[in-house]
Amino acid sequence: MCGIVAYLGPREAYPILIKGLQRLEYRGYDSAGVAIYNGQLHVFKKKGKVQDLVEFARSKETGGNIGIGHTRWATHGKPDDINAHPHTSGNDRLTIVHNGIIENYGLLKTALENKGHVFSSETDTEVLVHLIDEIQRSEKLPLAEAVRLALTEVVGAYAIVVMDRDNPDQLVAARKGSPLVIGIGKNEFFLASDATPIVEHTKQVIYLNDEEITLLTRDGHLQIKTIGNEIQSPFIEELNMEIEMLEKGGYDYFMLKEIHEQSRTIQDCMRGRLNAGEGWVRLGGIEQYHNRIAQADRILIVACGTSWHAGLIAEYLFEDLARIPVEVEYASEFRYRNPIIRENDVVIAISQSGETADTLAALELAKEKGALIYGIVNVVGSSIARMTDAGSYIHAGPEIGVASTKAFTGQVTLLTMMALSLAYKRGTLSKTYYQQLLNEMENIPRKVETLLQQCASSVEYIATEFKNATNALYLGRGYSFPVALEGALKLKEISYIHAEGYPAAEMKHGPIALIDENMPVFVIATNKSAYEKIASNIQEVKARKGVVIAVVTEGEEVISKMADYRIEIPETEEPLTPLLSVIPLQLLSYHIALLRNCDVDQPRNLAKSVTVE
Ligand code: G6P
Repeated sequence: MCGIVAYLGPREAYPILIKGLQRLEYRGYDSAGVAIYNGQLHVFKKKGKVQDLVEFARSKETGGNIGIGHTRWATHGKPDDINAHPHTSGNDRLTIVHNGIIENYGLLKTALENKGHVFSSETDTEVLVHLIDEIQRSEKLPLAEAVRLALTEVVGAYAIVVMDRDNPDQLVAARKGSPLVIGIGKNEFFLASDATPIVEHTKQVIYLNDEEITLLTRDGHLQIKTIGNEIQSPFIEELNMEIEMLEKGGYDYFMLKEIHEQSRTIQDCMRGRLNAGEGWVRLGGIEQYHNRIAQADRILIVACGTSWHAGLIAEYLFEDLARIPVEVEYASEFRYRNPIIRENDVVIAISQSGETADTLAALELAKEKGALIYGIVNVVGSSIARMTDAGSYIHAGPEIGVASTKAFTGQVTLLTMMALSLAYKRGTLSKTYYQQLLNEMENIPRKVETLLQQCASSVEYIATEFKNATNALYLGRGYSFPVALEGALKLKEISYIHAEGYPAAEMKHGPIALIDENMPVFVIATNKSAYEKIASNIQEVKARKGVVIAVVTEGEEVISKMADYRIEIPETEEPLTPLLSVIPLQLLSYHIALLRNCDVDQPRNLAKSVTVE
């Protein structure tokens, strides 16, 4: 939530900051701002997107080779020009950008007001920069030391960068709970919330750890300390990311590009991990803990949003294939409800960004209680990836569209491999069925490719038919139930149509009351095991004049005849159907959003990386 970027070096800072903010815009787009120093401090900030800031600053003086920038997802204070970052200390000497929340800002603010500080915004961030200024002036300290002392008084989460007008040859940055990456170029430094603004300038990075503070100077000096004042030795890593991964590559929207990448990303997720010919599936991450996971009393899965839906599919997979009991928890509920976690439990966190605040906190809790914690993450080097005992990356590459697509299928692919590997170890599947599933996993990327070509026109047609709907219902049973939830979430997120996902049979206990001729009901009817039952559920909808759009396996005839519209997916093994059936639903939401003139990649009020609770 919120993106921050900074530059110190010989080049013009402004274009680097703007490009960086555009890369980070997925993290929030309520307002944007930059502060640049060129003998004078210039601060430009504007409600709206980075492009609005660019228009606003077009004829202004933007020269200078040190600067900080911010794109905001509002927490404290409405999204307007005044609350936009950067914020300055009262005397305009210090400037700050901040991602996170200062929880005790009320107390700090009162104490500072009593000392004569006057605030112009409603933000917690402005309080922090005043606090640093107060400490620096009253105790006559260097900036880095003042920042460090101020942070010892702060409760909450932050990634900050501070610039001092009186010392424009240095930047001070720190993090706790929100990510921050340092890019090390030739005689220059970059700072950003993730590596995407940095990769086109340098591949040498340092991921700052929690409660660390860094001082970067123009003469190339870099120092890292803990907030507790212990010097740390910097660990420089090489980025494994190419700039093309961050571009739209000929597609109109990132979401469309990411939907179409899924054949490749599923393949990438399986590469070197599954070989049907030789009959094995191996996840490097679990090798060391294979016995412990296979003998776990219980697997707890914690996640949020789309990742939670992938977790729900994992519950079906792990219980069905590996016969291990699973509970799937919303991280935000889990962390506060005093859950029972035992040492023989394994806790798996699923997160695209690896930075979701609630998921991180849930993991910390599980770690404290002695459970083995395992991360299934997309963003390399992210906080969850670094705090877990073990884990696996899904290798989907940067996902930029706010609505998650390829990360979801990557998570499901990884979880399916994990379930298969545990099933093999526990001997819970027949050899034949295990082999059949491995063979079919290898077929999935090709089937995704075919599906994307085959369903394109029917999905577009169905989108035009339902673009004006105000409500929609998504139904599924078994493995298709989490897909129904995900389909409904996709529609809500980007087209703003109210949609609910439901287990098909539960419909009778409430949602059926809503069904009439205006209510599209999407039924994911791809499971062979519950075929008759789902057919009866469709009859129940039809009897109430509901309009049924059925997702069926190709060649299916009975349900197809009952339904008003149908979308076919290639035949596959039942546990693998979510990897295919979700794809037309992603595409449908995309087309409906487009027809409703919604901002597909940056839907209102949402952010991709939710680093506040
Ligand atoms: C936000 C995003 C969703 C995502 C969820 C969890 O709500 O908009 O797409 O599913 O956060 O994020 P994570 O990075 O932990 O998967």
